[in-house]
Amino acid sequence: MMNTKIAGIGYYVPKRVVTNDELAQHMDTSDEWIQERTGIKERRYAEKHKETTTTMAAHASLRAIEDACINKEDIDFIVFATISPDYYFPGCGVLLQRELGLTDATIGSLDVRNQCSGFIYGLSVADKFIKTGTYKNILLIGAEMHSMGLDFSTRGRGVSVIFGDGAGAVILQPTEDENKGVLTTHLHSDGTYAEELSLISPGCHGGYHDDDMGKYGFVDPEVLGEILVTETMLKDGLLYPYMNGKLVFKNAVVRFSEVIHEALAATGLQKEDIDMLIPHQANLRISQFLQKTLKLEEGKVFNNIQKYGNTTAASIPIALCEAHQEGKIKSGDLVCLAAFGSGFTWGSTLIRW
Ligand code: COA
Repeated sequence: MMNTKIAGIGYYVPKRVVTNDELAQHMDTSDEWIQERTGIKERRYAEKHKETTTTMAAHASLRAIEDACINKEDIDFIVFATISPDYYFPGCGVLLQRELGLTDATIGSLDVRNQCSGFIYGLSVADKFIKTGTYKNILLIGAEMHSMGLDFSTRGRGVSVIFGDGAGAVILQPTEDENKGVLTTHLHSDGTYAEELSLISPGCHGGYHDDDMGKYGFVDPEVLGEILVTETMLKDGLLYPYMNGKLVFKNAVVRFSEVIHEALAATGLQKEDIDMLIPHQANLRISQFLQKTLKLEEGKVFNNIQKYGNTTAASIPIALCEAHQEGKIKSGDLVCLAAFGSGFTWGSTLIRW
């Protein structure tokens, strides 16, 4: 059977740099608090009206296409992971297809909604398509425009300071070299804590899943159940993400570690064999914790959350691309990607570069 290799890679981040001090002008926060708790110094925000999740994805895609030395017409399938799509529906896959001018091809496009684990979920699906010979040039993207949907008042400070915008893309191709490319992928989820990192409205739940919607700010039961969006939802800021940061943190450190060990066990490799670990950029403290518990040498864990914040589905491909461009990943290296996020969902992969 064929293996799946990463034949091209590219990323795009918007020009506008937003510092912690700039956020502190809108909400009660500080550069010191944000850096100490998350490691984030700044993030990028897209230019509204001119940029969207799809347009950023298109920039990243064209770079990955060029890097793979193929024509965009060679792409035979698109996998698009995002939680901040341009539209509620249709998904960004078809919008990207149109943006790239690929509508003549009538190729398939799949939208992945697995939050911070979206890129790894997408990679796992694309890997199977390549391995079974279904497709030969899959474009896999993770892209987010969070800045459009964050609460920039003090009410939203626990969430809004974390997230940033950007896009990363890879081209996946078959290789006959069985020692190269994606060696293994592992996906998990547990819906027990689905609402603990979520954006539940607008949605069709009508309050069904939890008797105590008050903890998400839904104090008035009348607000729920009749229509998708109400004026009260707008007024009370219920259309913004909710996060139980401490619970997410505690679960993240356990699941990241578990799923990395699972990938190593599946391939008979040891943690010492990892040349570069690229964790989803959720929080610098989570990455540092992982480095310590896995006893990985300095320089074997790549972090760029300091510059971009948490870009959810885009964080792994952006980091992978930067690490590669900085010469930190060389041919033959063992690269481990791992993610954890809303759902909760988590996953890992090992790639022989
Ligand atoms: N600036 C200043 N103070 C803030 C703040 C901000 N941006 N956000 C929250 N606070 C305040 C809280 O209101 C709280 O104040 P109180 O003690 O008076 O009630 C205090 O800081 C502590 O808040 P808490 O949420 O307990 O802080 P924390 O140490 O857990 O750090 C996170 C918050 C979000 C940084 C941390 O929980 C985290 O990183 N969790 C994981 C998040 C994550 O990885 N998400 C993505 C997963 S994919």
